Parts: sequence; C-alpha cells; structure tokens
Amino acid sequence: MMFQMAEERSHPREEGGAHPPWKSRAWTELETARARVLAMLGGLPEDELRRQHSPLMSPLIWDVAHVANYEEQWLLRALGAPAITDPAFDAIYDAFRHPRSTRAELPLLPPEAAFAYARRVREAVREHLHRLPEDSTAPLLAGGYVFGMVAQHEQQHAETLAATLQLMTSPEYHVPSARPRPRPGAVPQAEVFIPGGEARLGSTSPWAYDNERPTFSQHVAPFLMDAHPVTNGDYLVFVEAGGYEDPRWWHPKGWEVIQAEGLKYPGFWLPQGNHTWLRRRFGQVEPLPKDEPVQHVCWYEADAYARWAGKRLPTEAEWEKAARGSDGRPREYPWGDTPPTRARANLDGSTWGPAPVGSYPQGVSQDGVWGLLGDVWEWTASDFRPYAGFSAFPYPEYSEVFFGESYKVLRGGAWASAPVAMRNGFRNWDFPNRRQIFAGFRCARNAR
Ligand code: AVJ
Ligand code: FE
Repeated sequence: MMFQMAEERSHPREEGGAHPPWKSRAWTELETARARVLAMLGGLPEDELRRQHSPLMSPLIWDVAHVANYEEQWLLRALGAPAITDPAFDAIYDAFRHPRSTRAELPLLPPEAAFAYARRVREAVREHLHRLPEDSTAPLLAGGYVFGMVAQHEQQHAETLAATLQLMTSPEYHVPSARPRPRPGAVPQAEVFIPGGEARLGSTSPWAYDNERPTFSQHVAPFLMDAHPVTNGDYLVFVEAGGYEDPRWWHPKGWEVIQAEGLKYPGFWLPQGNHTWLRRRFGQVEPLPKDEPVQHVCWYEADAYARWAGKRLPTEAEWEKAARGSDGRPREYPWGDTPPTRARANLDGSTWGPAPVGSYPQGVSQDGVWGLLGDVWEWTASDFRPYAGFSAFPYPEYSEVFFGESYKVLRGGAWASAPVAMRNGFRNWDFPNRRQIFAGFRCARNAR
C-alpha cells in the first residue's frame, strides 16, 4: 500500500490529537528486537538456519529475511525512502504466497546475505527516521504507529523462531544464556470472584493493532476465574486419570484430533513409566516441573481439561475484564498502567521457559488474578472475530483475513513474547489443534 492512500483514510487513530514524542522509543524497540533475533540465531551453523525443522515452521533464515523485507516495505518504501530491493523480490518472503512447509525450496537469501540485507535496511531506516516529522498526524506515522508495527512484527517472529528452535532435534538447540526463573514455594490453585457488569474491551494505545480497535463495552455475568494458569501438576492428574481415553471430556473435533495424531499428553512431555515424567525444553531434558503452567497444549486439550474439571475456558470478554480490573478502570496491564518489568511478568524471551505459578506478586491484577501476562499464552473460548466498527489498518493480511471460526483467541502473552507486543488488549490467534506455540490456559466457571 502507498503512503498517500494511508494519508487519505479516515481512521479512529486520528482522534485524540497530539501524541508524545515517539522516535526514540521506536528506535530502541527496533534495536531490542534485532539484538534478540541475532542472539537467538548467533551460534547456529548455516545448514541449520536453512533447514526445514518442522512442516509447521519456516526455515529460520526465512524469518530473518522476511522481517527485513517487511521493514523495507513499511519503514522505507511506504514512507517515501528509496527502496533497497525491487518489489518483485517481496514474493519469496510473502507469507501468503508460500506455505511454511515449502519455504526451504525457495531461492532464499543465504544466511550471510539475509543478515546483511537486514542490516542494510536497518541502516537506511535510521537515516530516514531523522527526516520524518515527529508530529505527523498521517495514520501510518501518528504516534509512530508503523514503527511500533514493525518492532512488534520482528518480536512476534522472534517468538516464532523460539517455537522452531524448541521443535528442532538432532541437534537440539541449546539456549545461549537463560536468566534464572523464580522458584517460589508451591501455591494452591484458587478461584477469584469477578463481579458481573461491563467489560471494557479493546486498546487505545497508539501502537495497538487494528484487531484491538475500536474499544467497546460488553456485559458479562459474574464468574469465577482461576487465580493461576493450570499447572503441569494439575494437568498430570487429568492425564493419569485417563482423560485422553474418555470422549466425554472432548469436543468431537478434538477427539478426532487426538485419535488421528495419537496425542496422550502435552507436547514435549516424556513419559518414563511408573508415574515418572520428564520434559524436553530446548536441549534440556528435565523432570516435569509440577508448579509451572502447562504449555504446548492445543485448544482441544485445554477445553477437555476444563470440562473434566467441571469448568470451562474464559471468553475473551471475561479474560479482559479480569485483566483490566472489575472496578471499571481500564488498566493497560493487570497491575496498572506502568510498562512491564521483570518483577511483574515473565516476558521478553530471556528466561527460555515459564516460571512457577505465584512467581510474580507484583503482577497480580486488581481482583487478585495472577500471571495474566507472560509465562504462557492462555487459550480462550472465543473465535477470532472483528470488534464492531473494525477497519483493516494498514493492510488486511495482518488480522482481517483470519477472522472467522477457524481460529481461537489466545490472550496474555508467553515468556517468549516481548513487552512491546504485550498489553491487556492484545489478541493472538491460532488453529485449535496447534501446540507448537507457548500456549497454556486457565479455567473459569459461572458464579452461581
Ligand atoms: C499474530 C502471531 C498470529 O505469527 O502468524 C507475523 C503475527 N503476522 N507476521 C503470526 C504475524 C505477520 C501472527 N500472529
Ligand atoms: Fe510476518
């Protein structure tokens, strides 16, 4: 899309007038994303970067050049800067043209050239950034929107890289350096009463995506929300009670999926017999930590566990009400409006895994719900649908083409999600049978 077209659009982003200066944050977020990607891939030999490690994922080096190409399209060409490559080049890195499982066969830039392309685009972006007006009200530039979009895009792909690296075997990936995760004492699962009333959904922050807009209110009945995500220990009870052998707990489609794929427990668990369970986390085989949120479960597994437990998955509206607080003040994060810190949430990829539930007392919501942001994505009961008044911006392939019954919404981000792409209103989505993402869940139930 051309920049002139973007300027002509009328969009809710133009409401609200002045934005605080955004350039310095934009640059910092771009560089934070790049440093992460380079640190993740730094130790890998060329053939591992080029290989298709899983049919579900792109070759790692595809993601690198895709991120650079996206940055060229949106921060250079769309903003009137000279192009680096011909637009015909975009096709190789167009996610809609080539399914992930076929990308290794494309004439991809070799690793060294892909990294050089990314560097070259970034240098040109730095030059061009100086020339852009900080106070532009053009939709792409207001509040630095398109820079936030590109930084979030690179971080979302960093998370995708982490999923590919977790799937990788022979050789297994060894994390460059992991920050220790907290190890608090065990906390009991509990339920938090959330009074009924209006739930405020949607984001107003300048870098929020089109699918988070516009904001609206929806009535929700009083409900009980689990204080913590479901843990490995909780989930193991379901597994060992024969949960995967009893169709009563399963959505009919989910029952089909677990038969067809032979699923009997979450991804990367390693049964040793005699109630002993290990799990593989990147190159590490370790005892299954009972107190961490379960991850690598698909929506069907989350749904089945909830039914077995006499509960259900929360809807998006319930999740967001719990996150913003039931007193009606629409907080940007569960703890308030100050940006995430390492004391409040396990985000940014540096821990390389979830922390035990109860690790972040400073991240607790107004109503006493723990761990809403970070650690694991939380599957919700809701299909990915547009909010009333949705308008695609700046291109329909980010959100609009995915709306419908095929995708379920996840909320709250994982340990691998970056703070720049995290807020109470952020919506992620995936197919209900996918479990390579860092997804878990928490349960809810009606208050009677
Ligand atoms: C929002 C995580 C579902 O990875 O498919 C990356 C993000 N969009 N490039 C995805 C995205 C374009 C998207 N998710
Ligand atoms: Fe992308």
